[in-house]
Amino acid sequence: MFQKLQRKWKVNSISLVLILVTFATGGSLCGYLGKLLLGLTGLEKNILWFIIYIILVTLLWPLCVLVISIPLGQFSFFKKYITKIFGRFTGKKQPSKMRVAIFASGAGSNAQKIIEHFKNSKTVEIALIVCNQPNAGVLHIANTYKIETLLIEKERFFKGDHYLNDLQLKNIHFIVLAGFLWKIPTALVQAWPSKIVNIHPALLPKFGGKGMYGNNVHQAVIEAGETESGITIHFVDEVYDNGKIIFQATCKVEPEDNTDSLAQKIHRLEHTHFPEELEKVLMK
Ligand code: GRF
Repeated sequence: MFQKLQRKWKVNSISLVLILVTFATGGSLCGYLGKLLLGLTGLEKNILWFIIYIILVTLLWPLCVLVISIPLGQFSFFKKYITKIFGRFTGKKQPSKMRVAIFASGAGSNAQKIIEHFKNSKTVEIALIVCNQPNAGVLHIANTYKIETLLIEKERFFKGDHYLNDLQLKNIHFIVLAGFLWKIPTALVQAWPSKIVNIHPALLPKFGGKGMYGNNVHQAVIEAGETESGITIHFVDEVYDNGKIIFQATCKVEPEDNTDSLAQKIHRLEHTHFPEELEKVLMK
């Protein structure tokens, strides 16, 4: 139950304890204040007293939890929480955020940069991490940021329902591939037309296609004697590394570069540009 709450509210275990303490203390404080105020009126404890008490406590509750939340460092959580409840009563619904799923199977450094970038966004929520490697670093990152994960398996992804229903039920609006090596099945490409982007660690259309990932790409770039490499952010279609290019950035390939040093340069470019370019695409 506690883990469910942590995921729902996107908080770590310490914050969860502080939030629960705030609820409990704020609740008691408002009950106490309600009784105190009614005591001052000299009203008899009859049905009218109870009705006024309930109204008073309802009005005092937001104030009390907000006050208590300040010393406990949970003010921003409660401000959001109360605004949401208030919105429900007044029928003023908060605009729902665009829910983004990141597909990744590696260390997840790009996923992390994207998560950080949108952490306080009012319009975009990184809602799901989809991964096909049970030991991938990206799953730890998802856990740190309390983001839901979906571990997928090959047979079902390629030959089964492609997890289409799961993604639709989770209300995913947009998909980002950040170090995901499997080809995206046609059914998913068609279900999210122009709503899937990938980052490729080279300057497409060169050095793309099946088998061109990670160090294979950098090795091919060096062996071809290229003096320049870079990154490509592109839409995903039915063909590997083929969709419309959205953005490219370049870096020099020096004679002394090897696959590791080139990979580092590429990662730097990715971390600098991917979150911002993604935001531009999402805002269109
Ligand atoms: C990146 O270089 C990306 O271009 C490629 O896979 C790598 C993923 O790295 N598709 P990380 O897992 O984000 O650190």
